[in-house]
Amino acid sequence: MSKFRQHFFVCTNARPPFAKPSCGSKNSNQILILLQEEIEKRGLLNEVKVTGCECLGPCEEGAIMVVYPEGTWYKKITADDVLEIVETHILQGNPVSRLIYNWQDET
Ligand code: FES
Repeated sequence: MSKFRQHFFVCTNARPPFAKPSCGSKNSNQILILLQEEIEKRGLLNEVKVTGCECLGPCEEGAIMVVYPEGTWYKKITADDVLEIVETHILQGNPVSRLIYNWQDET
């Protein structure tokens, strides 16, 4: 069993400008750093893990983030969303509904 109650994976995959869209071009590295900083500031390093990762799939909807073990997916995340995700999702236990990515929307 993991020592962490939640593990956030932030896609930081970057592609060249002429290629398919990528989360790296949507400032996902900044999102990753801000999220890590907030987790540390709030003394949650032993409860919540944050990791950058390669492409998670829905590149057109980036920046993409997924949270395990619950399996919440986020889309179109910006740096401005980080505080809300920390306060609403991590601290209150309620995912930010306006940012949820639903795989069933894919055709
Ligand atoms: S590049 Fe982020 S989901 Fe594909």
